[in-house]
Amino acid sequence: MDMKSGNWSGTAIRPVGLIIRQKDPNNLEMPFDQLDEFITPSELFYIRSHFPTPEMDPVAYRLSISGAVRNELSLSYADIRAMPSRTCVATLECAGNSRVFMVPPVPGAQWELGAVGNAEWTGVPLSALLERAGVADEVCELVLEGADRGVPKEEPKPPGPISYARSIPLARAMEPDVLIAYQMNGQDLTPDHGYPLRAIVPGHYGMASVKWLTDIVAVTQPFQGYWQTSDYGYWDDSDGTPVRRPLAEMKLKSQIARPRVYERLQPNRPYTIFGAAWAADTDVAEIWISLDGGASWVQGDFLDPVNRHAWRRWKYDWITPAQPGRHTLLARATGADRRTQPDGHNPNFGSYVIDHPLPIEVFVAAP
Ligand code: MTE
Repeated sequence: MDMKSGNWSGTAIRPVGLIIRQKDPNNLEMPFDQLDEFITPSELFYIRSHFPTPEMDPVAYRLSISGAVRNELSLSYADIRAMPSRTCVATLECAGNSRVFMVPPVPGAQWELGAVGNAEWTGVPLSALLERAGVADEVCELVLEGADRGVPKEEPKPPGPISYARSIPLARAMEPDVLIAYQMNGQDLTPDHGYPLRAIVPGHYGMASVKWLTDIVAVTQPFQGYWQTSDYGYWDDSDGTPVRRPLAEMKLKSQIARPRVYERLQPNRPYTIFGAAWAADTDVAEIWISLDGGASWVQGDFLDPVNRHAWRRWKYDWITPAQPGRHTLLARATGADRRTQPDGHNPNFGSYVIDHPLPIEVFVAAP
């Protein structure tokens, strides 16, 4: 950060090698077959923005904490950076990741496998700010609001431009790893990833990790904003009558990174199938791979230990079939709570939460 000019002056990370799903605003995904290290390099980390990246001046910047609190706070970027910090690794997945696998197709950015990444985030625990502000007893949620504004694309559209705002329950907000972050992978956030400050809400789909954060409002009634109800909502019919609820925790999910979709493989050769699996409030305990479209399953091995909120990379050493042909590979994770990924997509989630095993079709053919 250049405090004098007020301009972002971090290492000039450009999203090199990302796939464009939408040009303006930037909606870019990682080519997931490039998965390698546990930590996703910042330049390969997907970007999902509803409105153009706002110009932020770190000198003029203030983070306001208001609503049902005893002491309203207005903190500068320097105030936040001077506070004790915490670093955590968390996987962020966009709730629409893997949408391109939906049959029949659904509207929205056609994300393949790369709207997910695992980064190291540094910032101030949100709980430390809330303790300073003194949250009233009746508070149920914190609304997090960003500086970006515009008219959303999806119907029903609000009457004019709105900001990007999402709420999280108070209990979640008080978890130590929920951060008001200023660094990603040891560098100041890039403009597209939310410079100067963003929320990081581990365990929730990415929509909760509000970028360009300017306002935190403590509320005593559930927030009903556009991004909480119209978009990023789902139908909960567990009580018989469907009601609209905000998406929240990420579901258990695994993805195959290699081979990539429609890759051509040589027959009768060793091939290491490689991928990652993640969950929200449980640990990923087992990974199962099917080499025959789901008829049978074999167990894979993890490459990373359990680290709550971070993904676990895994592998399975395969000998490709001797006979040429088309094969469908699947991966399915099991959580420490013994739950596993569902067989298919739950339509109550609309075009979100694509958490079933995703078919990766490959061709075995002689060179
Ligand atoms: N915050 C703001 N202010 N505006 C946005 O459009 N997109 C959300 C979230 N935070 C968004 C936002 C969504 S849908 C996701 S998946 C994540 O940011 C993506 O974070 P990233 O672009 O750093 O990967």
